[in-house]
Order: sequence, then structure tokens, then C-alpha cells
Amino acid sequence: MDVGRSPDVGPEEAVRANRGWWDGDADAYQAEHGAFLGDADFVWCPEGLREADARLLGEVRGRRVLEVGCGAAQCGRWLAGQGAHPVAFDLSAGQLRHARRLGTDGIALVQADAMRLPFAPGSFDLACSAFGAVPFVTDSAAVMREVARVLRPGGRWVFSASHPIRWIFPDDGGPGGLTVRQSYFDRSPYVERDDDGTATYAEAHRTLGDRVAEIVAAGFALTALLEPEWPPGETRTWAQWTPLRGALFPGTAIYVCELMA
Ligand SMILES: C[S@@+](CC[C@H](N)C(=O)[O-])C[C@H]1O[C@@H](n2cnc3c(N)ncnc32)[C@H](O)[C@@H]1O
Repeated sequence: MDVGRSPDVGPEEAVRANRGWWDGDADAYQAEHGAFLGDADFVWCPEGLREADARLLGEVRGRRVLEVGCGAAQCGRWLAGQGAHPVAFDLSAGQLRHARRLGTDGIALVQADAMRLPFAPGSFDLACSAFGAVPFVTDSAAVMREVARVLRPGGRWVFSASHPIRWIFPDDGGPGGLTVRQSYFDRSPYVERDDDGTATYAEAHRTLGDRVAEIVAAGFALTALLEPEWPPGETRTWAQWTPLRGALFPGTAIYVCELMA
């Protein structure tokens, strides 16, 4: 197996890799994180910020909401409980199987790739994503354009992803994860390959400036950028999100975008 930063993975190869990876990992992901996520709750990030408190989407009742990279659609289920009309999609049939297991009352589930949305222009009032799709695709500008296409003018798009500063440190929640090892400006994706050289997992890095440029190029105004802080006294961890690192630098960025009329 080959693991590390690699410039030579294309968008299609990354999608294939991630579909396989998330299908294979879905059971373990839901077993590990399901209790933290809740069955019908909207948690934006490992720091535990909830939409019930943050209200980044504004009024959701009666709104048509697209959940991007929904996993088991915990957020979509919360939105349905608030009176919204969510459509939740994910690339992975394994993740969507968990979405069906947890219940589909009031939610439409779709299997789709975030770079090619099977929805008509202007179909949604709101779009949201908690770490879904955006961190994994090598062409996140295409995701921004697709979300802009399917939102109505004035619609809001709110998504969370790993904070770009994380990419300069090793993936280690302990002291080893506090020393800068990579250039912030190295945009090559992180890729895992099997012994045949086939990509089995991919994650892409964008600097903060890159991300803002993609958002604006798709026709959005960025109205807020949140960097949730690690809650004081919180000892619960999520992979490399730990109190040690959380006290020193952000783990998550949340982008609040509005589609220009
Ligand atoms: C970290 S999980 C987040 C899932 C869910 N939002 C949550 O908070 O648990 C990332 C999700 O993005 C999905 N994903 C990855 N690439 C995607 C793509 N190109 N299109 C749609 N979904 C994708 C994965 O299948 C996975 O379910």
C-alpha cells in the first residue's frame, strides 16, 4: 500500500476510490460516530456545534433543502423534524443503507456524485453539508458550481470541512500532530493506493484563499466563515480532533454562502 500526497489523481479516479472506500467503511463509521451524530440531529463538526444552536441555515420550515454527502442523513432527519423538505444524497450506497436503517420519514434519499447533481436548476432554497463530499473531491469548484445551479437565486449554501490549516500537520491527535511537516501551499491531494497502484481513498486540500475563490467564482457571496473552538473541558475526540490540538488551532471551517440574485 502507498500512502501520501500525490498530484496524479484525477477527479474520476478520486470519485471511484471514495465510493469504494465509503462503501467499505460505512458500518465502521456509523458504529464509531453514530452516537455522537445522533439519529436525527444536525452536528456541523467534531467540535460539536449544532444547527439547533447556530442556526446558520436560517428558517428551514417549509424550505426545500439539499443535504450534500449526507452519510446516514442524520442532518436531513433533523431538518425533516423542523418542517423542512430535505433531499439527502451521497455517493456511497453503504452510507445510504444506514440512512434507510435510521428512517426515511420526510426525507428523499438519492445516490449521486456532488460534481454531477441529478436535479433541475433552482430546485432548492437551501443546501448544506457537514463534511460531506467537499473535502474528498479533487474538483471542489465543480461542486460549488453544481450547488449554485440547483439553488434558487438568493438561496443559502452552508458547508463544513476540515480547516485548511490542518494540512500542514501530520494526521496525529497527539503531540506528533503539533509539528509542521507540510507546506500549506502544497495542493496535492492525500491519496492511498493499493499494491496495484489503484487509488482507494482521496482527500483534497484547498487553501482558505482557494476555497473563497471557488465559492465566489460559482456566483456566491461568502457572508460568514466560522472557526468553531474546542469546547472547554470537552474530552471526547474524533480521529485527529483532540483537546490538545483543539486548544491551539482550528479543526473545522464552516462557510456560509448566499447565491447572488
Ligand atoms: C465524513 S462523511 C460525512 C457524512 C455526514 N455528512 C456526517 O456528518 O456523518 C463524508 C461523506 O461524503 C460522501 N462523499 C464522498 N465523496 C462524495 C461525492 N463525490 N459525492 C457525494 N458524496 C460524497 C461519503 O460517501 C461520506 O458519506
